[in-house]
Formats: sequence, C-alpha cells, structure tokens
Amino acid sequence: MRPAIRAENPLEWLLLRLGLLPTPLLDGYWGMATSRALLTAIELGLFDVLRERPMTAVELAERLGTDLSGTEVLLGALNGMRYVRRRAGRYSNGREVTRWLSESGTLDLRESVLFFGDLWDVVSDLTGLVRSGNAGNLHYDGRGPDFWRRYLRGLGVFVPLAAPEIVRKARLPRGARRLLDVGGGHGLYAAGFVRRTPGLSAEVFDLPEACAVGREMVAESGVAEGVTFREGDARSEPWGEGFDAVLLFNLVHNLTPEESADAFRRAHAALRPGGVVVVLEGEHQGAEGDISITAGLNEMLFFLTSGTRVYPEATMRDWMSDAGFSGIRTRHLISMPMMVLITATR
Ligand SMILES: C[S@@+](CC[C@H](N)C(=O)[O-])C[C@H]1O[C@@H](n2cnc3c(N)ncnc32)[C@H](O)[C@@H]1O
Repeated sequence: MRPAIRAENPLEWLLLRLGLLPTPLLDGYWGMATSRALLTAIELGLFDVLRERPMTAVELAERLGTDLSGTEVLLGALNGMRYVRRRAGRYSNGREVTRWLSESGTLDLRESVLFFGDLWDVVSDLTGLVRSGNAGNLHYDGRGPDFWRRYLRGLGVFVPLAAPEIVRKARLPRGARRLLDVGGGHGLYAAGFVRRTPGLSAEVFDLPEACAVGREMVAESGVAEGVTFREGDARSEPWGEGFDAVLLFNLVHNLTPEESADAFRRAHAALRPGGVVVVLEGEHQGAEGDISITAGLNEMLFFLTSGTRVYPEATMRDWMSDAGFSGIRTRHLISMPMMVLITATR
C-alpha cells in the first residue's frame, strides 16, 4: 500500500505517465503540509462543527473562534485534499471524514491522528538523530498522563476492527484459562480474547502509566471482569508461569534485539507446555531487495520513538525458535493488511 500522486487533469496525467512530474518537490512539501493541515483541523474540532451543517468560512471562523484568513487557508488546503468539499461557498465534510474521522463512521481515527501530533518534534529532529543515533525511548522518559491517554486511545481504536479475526487466527489451546498480555497497554485485545473465549481470564502486564489508562479503557469496554492489570517492566521483572497463551502485540518493536530475544525466552518460560505465544507486528519481509513503505516508515518511526526497529519476520521467527518454540506460523490479516500475526507453541 503506497500513497500515490493522482493527476487532476489530462496534462498532469500525461506528465505523470512520462515521469516528468518532480515528485521530490511534492513529497518535500505536500507530505508535511497535508499532515499538518489534518492535525490542525482535528485539534480545532473543525470537522465536528461542520458535521452540524455546511458553513461558509465566516460562519466556521465564528464558531471556532479562529482568524478568518487562517480559517480560509486551512479550508483551502482541506478542500484540495478532499477532506472538505465546497459548494456555492459553503463547506461540508468529505467522505473520508464521515468514514474515518467521526463517531458514526467505519472507524473513528481522530485520536490516532492526534497522537501523531505528539511525534511532531521528534520527527523534526530526524536529521540530528540519524547523525547521532541518540534516539530515546518515549516509554521511559517520564511523559504525563495526557500523552499516555492519546497514545493508548489512538491504538485502541483499531481493536474492534481486528480483534475478531485475531482471536480466530491466534487459535488458543482448547480450554485455555489464563492469558498474559505483555505490553497490552489499553487492554482491549485482552478483553477481546476474554469476550470470545469462555472460561478465559487475562492479565495485562505493562508499565504503570499504561496500566492507568488501560484500566479506564477496559472498564469503558464493559469487559472489566476477567481482565486484570499488573504494573511492571517486562524487561526486568518476572512474567509468571503456567499461562495458556502469551500475547506480544506491538511490543517487540519497542525493544532492542537483545531485549526482544530475551522476551521470547521469557514468554516460553511463562507458558505451560502446549501453550501459545502470539505476536502482532507490522509486516516486514526483510528481503535483500526493496521493502514496502509500511516496513520502511515503521523502521523510522520506531527508531524515532523507541530508539529501536521493526524487525523482519524471519528475525522474529529465529528468536522464537532459539527460545524453544515450535510450529511457528505467520498469518496475514485481512482486517489489518499491514500487520502480521506470528504464532508458535511451547
Ligand atoms: C505500541 S503499544 C502496544 C499496545 C497494545 N499491545 C496494542 O497492540 O495495541 C506498546 C506497549 O508496550 C508497553 N511497553 C513498552 N515497554 C515496556 C516494558 N519495558 N515493559 C512493559 N510494557 C512495555 C507500552 O507501555 C505500550 O503499552
């Protein structure tokens, strides 16, 4: 899946076909400008106000308490991006907003997009960090509750979409009773397994800041019973033992290679014989040739946010095998085609 430049008229179409459009100029400004315009619209609540009825720029600026000129240029950018449409001088939300940025749509991604705003400074610092290699890990640098809420709420948005398929494809052992979700954060995947597996209870093991948000979110989801939280650092504190399943969902990319290999050894020790480890990560073929934009941008993202990488699937399978797991299988997800599920048995 790649973002593409689409022609808006026959001349552009022809130049694009002939490879004569200077795409670096577009990537250089448009990438940053589209990201900022979308973030600002969500931060200001612009789409929420337009949901009431189509409005002129003057009406919208009054409702938002914003400068008219600033509102007009923002609307111009959003109209060009088709997030808003303009008819007879009035603006209304486009199809993408209705579908992806509102409560009644397919998925409400507003909180996920807002979280990207938290990464703005660190992304701006890319040149320096590539030079020095001194990227920190934002999980351990004392960020406050608002950051953690945006982070985990932004991730929790995807769970209703993906959980049914993940639970089905994870294939927990028959009669599974105890599940450990390491780095489970919002706890909604754990809750998804509990909801769909009679007799199962789950323990989410995560940093204290994450558990605080997770407890709120699981309570809101209505599956509080059967999901408990344990605060701790999974790199150094014991995981417990005798579990039927261990989930490592989007955790490994926050760990160094040494910590990742150790996490698989800890998962193995925490499982009963016949128990399963289930890993959810961004797809990364890790071949010698070109990689996908998902893999490439994820590599950069986790370097920026955690000082780490997203690891190729083959590397993770090696770590699992070295830890003693067998029956290692990679499964692709239809509900989240950019992610893979890797399962294995102790
Ligand atoms: C990207 S989030 C994934 C949350 C959830 N598992 C999901 O897939 O949506 C990574 C989670 O790992 C947790 N985490 C990072 N380092 C950790 C550590 N050393 N010990 C325990 N949890 C950790 C974070 O707090 C966060 O909740």
